Amino acid sequence: MMFRFSGFVAAGAIVAAATPALAQTEVKIGYALAPDSHYGVAAKAFEEAVTEQTGDAFTFQHFPSSGLGGEREVIEGLQLGTVEATIVSSGTLANFVPDTGVFDIPFLFRDLEHARAVLDGEIGEEILAKFADVGLHGLAWGEQGFRHITNNRNAIETPADVEGLKIRTMENPVHQAAFNAMGAAPTPMAWPEVISSLQQGVIDGQENPLSVIVSVKLDEVQEYLTLSGHVYSPAMLLVSKPFWDGLSDEQKEAFETAADEAVVAMRGFVDEVETTGVETLKERGMTVNELSAEQKAQFQNEISSAYEGYYETYGKDLVDSIVNFE
Ligand code: PAF
Repeated sequence: MMFRFSGFVAAGAIVAAATPALAQTEVKIGYALAPDSHYGVAAKAFEEAVTEQTGDAFTFQHFPSSGLGGEREVIEGLQLGTVEATIVSSGTLANFVPDTGVFDIPFLFRDLEHARAVLDGEIGEEILAKFADVGLHGLAWGEQGFRHITNNRNAIETPADVEGLKIRTMENPVHQAAFNAMGAAPTPMAWPEVISSLQQGVIDGQENPLSVIVSVKLDEVQEYLTLSGHVYSPAMLLVSKPFWDGLSDEQKEAFETAADEAVVAMRGFVDEVETTGVETLKERGMTVNELSAEQKAQFQNEISSAYEGYYETYGKDLVDSIVNFE
């Protein structure tokens, strides 16, 4: 935990007693996207809610746009106690708590409502609690929306269209297995390298939700957008365990309430961009197509081989209980 002391340290016991030192705890919060993204909006709501409840006990310093490095590095910073808070995708979370990967299984969730209900329910809570074992404290599940494919090679309608496509995936084995099963050439890569790799043609495409595609202006480096909705993209609001352990019970309660407010802001942003994002990207010149239910079924069929591995890793019962969650 880092402390910033303000005010003067005055000489003499009488003056010191009359003017107690004002200690503010600094909260460095890092995230991969800009202040006007769903992450930025959530981080701001988080800060405001903490401040409203705790006065000036905490001072927030924001590091948007991967200002503290890739998501894996930031999470490692939390474990070391050099960074206090972050909002991250599930990209690398499974490398810290393997069970998290179950939510990354393609075609697992029907819609946002289904995903939110599972994450906010018992299954989501149980996985969140596991972060305490690895030097982290999971405050709440947020989200980015459903992921879609963008690329510069061709429009995608059938699995044959992704054959050999050099597509950047997150450093996430669940996603990599799915794109391998589709016949693509998945290239796991940390987010800060993605835009330059697209510009240089090192990769043909990438996949991310509309929230990211719009806010990062991926239309400037990508021609085709296929609304594949192949996988839901959860996010998480995490704090460092050393930081968390140093908070009083009242402060912990304030951070928990604030995390809930941050999630409301994040989901509200995602709802908005899910409604307006496609039009925005068409206006900016992207060629957009949406997979029909039949076309989606072809992709689902193509990755059925990966499902065997998912059942082995996470248990068929758990996967089925998520799929059938009402
Ligand atoms: O694709 C990713 O790595 C993530 O979705 C991103 C853009 C870093 C947001 O968390």
